[in-house]
Amino acid sequence: MATSRLMQHPILPVAPRADVPFTWDGCPSTAKAGEPIASAVMAHGVRVFGHHPKYGSPQGLWCANGQCAQCLVLADGRPVKACATPVVAGMDVRPLDGLPPLPADGARPTLGEVERREVPVLIVGGGPAGLAAAAELGAHGVPVLLLDDKDRLGGKLVL
Ligand code: FES
Repeated sequence: MATSRLMQHPILPVAPRADVPFTWDGCPSTAKAGEPIASAVMAHGVRVFGHHPKYGSPQGLWCANGQCAQCLVLADGRPVKACATPVVAGMDVRPLDGLPPLPADGARPTLGEVERREVPVLIVGGGPAGLAAAAELGAHGVPVLLLDDKDRLGGKLVL
């Protein structure tokens, strides 16, 4: 299958990355190491990731930031946001047409221990504003807890 990816950029370097094999709707495909499912399938020309459970309308990339759930797919049988889920070698990725299946045994997911902390300031959101607030408070010796829904902070802080 032909791919379309940026291999060079006028400002940003594009480092070479290893290929990661996975399947899309049963067909062998490749992602680049660390690439989200959405980027990997779009590089192979896929624009529709599934269909709305009620209206049947095509679903796909919308916010590209893990906020809307328009990009839900099934990865190894579990519903995931394609824009926020990296491809793992051997992953079986399929379109989500309708509602995702419930676990066969009806078991609820096990949640881990909830850690309790008391801090003077809680910042929700690790974007540029949250990072700047945390840095400013930290510079004044104020303990801060910064929470974000991503697995890494995306803002670039320049002080
Ligand atoms: S495109 Fe919105 S959550 Fe993935």
